Amino acid sequence: MKLTCSALLRNLCLVGMIAACLMARGEDVASTPGMGWSSWNYYTCKVNDSMVRAQADALVSSGMKAAGYQYVNVDDCWQGERDASGMLHPNSKFPDMKALAEYIHSKGLKFGIYSSPGPKTCAGFAGSLGHEEQDAATFAQWGIDWLKYDLCTFKGNAEEEIAAYQKMHDALDKTGRKILFAICQYGKDRVWTWGARVGGNQWRTSRDITDSYERMSQNGFGQDGLEKFVGPGHWNDPDMLEVGNGGMSPDEYITHMSLWCLLSAPLLAGNDLTTMSKETLEILTNRELIAIDQDPLGVQGHRLSQEGPLEVWIKPLADKSVAVGLFNRGESMMPVSVSSAALGFTGTVRVRDLWQHKDLGAMNGSLARDVPSHGAVVLRVQSN
Ligand code: GLA
Repeated sequence: MKLTCSALLRNLCLVGMIAACLMARGEDVASTPGMGWSSWNYYTCKVNDSMVRAQADALVSSGMKAAGYQYVNVDDCWQGERDASGMLHPNSKFPDMKALAEYIHSKGLKFGIYSSPGPKTCAGFAGSLGHEEQDAATFAQWGIDWLKYDLCTFKGNAEEEIAAYQKMHDALDKTGRKILFAICQYGKDRVWTWGARVGGNQWRTSRDITDSYERMSQNGFGQDGLEKFVGPGHWNDPDMLEVGNGGMSPDEYITHMSLWCLLSAPLLAGNDLTTMSKETLEILTNRELIAIDQDPLGVQGHRLSQEGPLEVWIKPLADKSVAVGLFNRGESMMPVSVSSAALGFTGTVRVRDLWQHKDLGAMNGSLARDVPSHGAVVLRVQSN
């Protein structure tokens, strides 16, 4: 086929417009990383309708909604059987999904659900294989706003896997409803290189988190190098939060929250919001930290330096300030330092401690803070 110059230009414009539309769709629902609560880490398969309603109530009454948490997500184990027409129904623990969605929406919140491209979910319930369009239409009709699509029993090579995610993305798109598409396949097959291409708004980059300092550290500190693959509309996901579930110390949970915010990670609380302590709530609703996670520039932080167990991570922010995480992965309190020059500043800088909520004043040269074992200090640094 022979293309004239103007036809070529027209085609290029078209490609550009399609690309812009695809980006805009992603940015629409996830211009900043998604925030909310998910049932999995606390309830696993024990979740039911009334538990979810109680968590939605607590999301509002605790002040978490006001701090930015928006989605209430039912993870695995809600599925029942398909009827003769192939339509998937919830099991007896979820008598009416549409009514649950309406309840969540009535609180000004959004509703998320879970499925798999395989025949079965990870917990052995019905997956969407062969029913993608039908399930997407059902989910949209119920009023869902988020779909976590979890690889589980899907069998196929990387190409087939990518096609399966694309298929569900297209099915969601066809419903005309804005639905955040959360890819979950544990970081296999370099998902960060194709997740955005198949319409993913986030993709798991790690194994499942557990409520332990070791696994949380592997997931979080292991994200270095993946920063180049994210931006508004599409994010790396080192898995949901364990803050408040009891398996880590307060300093370890501070590390968890600090790291996830520096990583521009989705923030899905995974604890029981109806009984959480004041300390847990303070960690989850630290607005200065949340502002780092939700910063509109959308740049994921990365490791600037490491000396044994001491690490410095930085994340550039829209107002030209820099968020700095000082981490101590060692077994006793130690000072962690970084020079303002290494952060890209010349002359004096102004420094604020985001856990102490305190201005530390103007500083020059080296910034050093004592950091407790397994703890973190997060600073916001700007030109003076
Ligand atoms: C996988 C996912 C978890 C959770 C469970 C549910 O393990 O990685 O986040 O969704 O499945 O079965």
